[in-house]
Amino acid sequence: MKIAIINGPNLNKVGEREPEIYGTETFQDLLNSLEKTYPQVQFVYYQSNGEGALIDYLQAANEEVDGIVLNAAAYTHTSVAISDAVRSLEIPVIEVHMSNTFAREPYRHRSYLSPHVTGIIVGFGMQSYDLAVQALLKSDYV
Ligand code: DQA
Repeated sequence: MKIAIINGPNLNKVGEREPEIYGTETFQDLLNSLEKTYPQVQFVYYQSNGEGALIDYLQAANEEVDGIVLNAAAYTHTSVAISDAVRSLEIPVIEVHMSNTFAREPYRHRSYLSPHVTGIIVGFGMQSYDLAVQALLKSDYV
């Protein structure tokens, strides 16, 4: 079983960026912990600050993995192009956010992705990713 964790812009800075919102753990820490917790899963990780690069990766992942955990970061709230890419995928996609976007600025309340994903996990910090993996594994989506 293969799960892709895909992160959008500025998430490469998590650990040092706004630690009061996003914490101090890095995605390398998260991956190490996921690999320990779910030895039966092969994780692939991709982060890009570019919209086109994320779309290319999503399209390729559709052929190569069984499920996607996607944090498109700020593009969530702006990108019709990523929304179109997500709606064309045939595999399950869980949208995640570390912060509770609904408790933040109004422009973060809107997601162009949510109508096209399998489910959404919001507001649990790094644990949002683990919960998304659990959702994929416990369901019959994957
Ligand atoms: C985020 C929330 C977005 O609004 C923000 O632009 C991010 C991170 C989150 O994980 O909480 O970069 O997706």
